[in-house]
Amino acid sequence: MPRRFTEPGLVVASHNEGKVREIADLLAPFGLDITSAGQLNLPEPEETGDTFIANAELKAKAAVEGANMPALADDSGLAVEGLSGDPGLYSARWAGAARDFNIAMALVQEKLGDNPNRRAYFISVLSLAWPDGHVESFEGRIYGTMVWPPRGDKGFGYDPMFQPDGYDVTFGELDYDEKQRISHRAVAFQKLIDGCFREP
Ligand code: IMP
Repeated sequence: MPRRFTEPGLVVASHNEGKVREIADLLAPFGLDITSAGQLNLPEPEETGDTFIANAELKAKAAVEGANMPALADDSGLAVEGLSGDPGLYSARWAGAARDFNIAMALVQEKLGDNPNRRAYFISVLSLAWPDGHVESFEGRIYGTMVWPPRGDKGFGYDPMFQPDGYDVTFGELDYDEKQRISHRAVAFQKLIDGCFREP
């Protein structure tokens, strides 16, 4: 049984405003005091893990140490089948120091070339860490197809290039609320809520 969360608040262990907003909105019904690693000016730990779960735990634990309160981290990325799972763990890094996702999306397109396999999934691992060292982690995925050219200016990261299965719009075109309902982060989040926040 996952440990239940009974503390009054937590820090979202991220400096990515798009992600912090999505996580804070998902947590809103629980009336917690929420701050973020960015707001607290916590240093960003190096993501040295070789799995999403290792990186999510490492980020959550670093924020617990920096803020001395529980922390929730998300490690996420895009895995493209035709690229053997790339950019994967390096999804943020493909955008370069300037975090320019037009560059990252162009790179995905360039590497795919005329490869007919444009299947992909977004993955999110959420790790909730407590000051005593305990951690609970949950994974969510959403499958879809990489389109070109990118479409839409909503969302962030690779959203304009990812069309989820069952939709004829990309995450960049999808309404914020709908993305929040179906995304990889929403799937992981539902597991987190069921495991740690809701009465059994
Ligand atoms: P992280 O901050 O190391 O977890 O990097 C995750 C990266 O994956 C982000 O910078 C985005 O490029 C990409 N990513 C994760 N979730 C999403 C999403 O919901 N939409 C678009 N890109 C995402």
